[in-house]
Amino acid sequence: MGHDPFREAGSDTFVLATPSGNMLWSSDDTVIRGLFEQHPKVDAPVEFLKFWNVWGPTIASVQGAEWKVHRKAVTAGFGPAMNHTVWKETLSQTQKLATHWTEDHQAIVPVVRYWTSRLALHIICNGFFGMKVEWNADNQKSLPTGHKIALDAALPKFIENLAVFVTVPTALLSRLPVKKFRDTYENFTEITTYLDEFRAKVLNNVEAVPAKKSKTILESVVLSEVSEKNPLAKETHQIPENTLTLINNAGAARNPKTWKRSKISKERRNALSDSPALDFDPDRWLDEKDQRLANWTAFGAGGRVCPGKEFANIELTAAMATLFKLYSLELVVVKENDETDDMAWKRTRDQAIRMFYDDMEANITIGVHKDIPIRIVERVV
Ligand code: HEM
Repeated sequence: MGHDPFREAGSDTFVLATPSGNMLWSSDDTVIRGLFEQHPKVDAPVEFLKFWNVWGPTIASVQGAEWKVHRKAVTAGFGPAMNHTVWKETLSQTQKLATHWTEDHQAIVPVVRYWTSRLALHIICNGFFGMKVEWNADNQKSLPTGHKIALDAALPKFIENLAVFVTVPTALLSRLPVKKFRDTYENFTEITTYLDEFRAKVLNNVEAVPAKKSKTILESVVLSEVSEKNPLAKETHQIPENTLTLINNAGAARNPKTWKRSKISKERRNALSDSPALDFDPDRWLDEKDQRLANWTAFGAGGRVCPGKEFANIELTAAMATLFKLYSLELVVVKENDETDDMAWKRTRDQAIRMFYDDMEANITIGVHKDIPIRIVERVV
């Protein structure tokens, strides 16, 4: 995990020769940026990304001429009007979420990643489909006709069980007597039906869409699709045999050649699982001329750079600003046996630090899979 395999191999970039082909691994930020910028000479391993093809090819699972058409359709939806929508919706959603925590959850938030994923989902639903998702559970009472589950409930459950969906053939999901399979199938069909309905709604009103000042991303994609000049190609692609290059962002972000480590004794580091939380230093981003910033590729780089980069940055900034302007977030400290307040606080803090190494999980996003309860406290101004 992290940079350890590269330290043990004695190199930040190495090639594994395997019977099925060569694999290049890298945690070197210059090599990583170089690889991203090689596009289209070096392309995404689209073969592995075909599980996205729920309704047909997507921008993430195609390359060459077909990718260009998808890219044009998708990026048409991102721009100043969408940035404005994301900013406004994030301010409103984050404020409502903080109120929901304080009023309905006694200001204790046990599973932070659940709420942050929900927040991102609410904002995406608005930007993509023009849909307003509320935080109260009453939402479930007003389900659209023909649906058993709300979209904002079905999507997180589906993503949680993505591994099931990718490994078990869809035809078997609905037939095998396994609850997880059936639930995954039900969530999948619900999401598909919702998206088909959203698309049909845009198509029914397609003449009015071009004049709209602020279009949803779906409206922009549908417009591009129906335009005679720019039909979404449905051709198939032969993937040329090549070396598979694997970018290790976790390793790159902890590469000691690039990132200074905090001055902490070896004993203390070991006691805290050498957690990345120990070296977290937000000030490192303040110098715009710093080469490390230029090589920072969390959103990719080059021709295939993430088109949602601004969307995500605006969302993050607006959410953090709203939350920390009015509230502080604190770890929930529960005293054990005859601990003093200070001992209980230090134990809780160290436990949280360790979790940022011991309990990390990657499933589309990367997060701590165990709960770290936090308390939201209104700031005294
Ligand atoms: C913190 C949030 C995000 C991170 C770290 C992130 C990161 C990335 C990365 C690393 C890539 C691959 C780039 C490459 O292959 O060169 C990518 C692609 C992509 N991202 Fe994001 N992304 C984020 C948020 C978003 C959001 C909010 C959207 C949409 C609203 C989005 C839409 C896409 C799409 C459509 C692609 C495929 C682009 C292509 O293949 O041409 N991303 N993202």
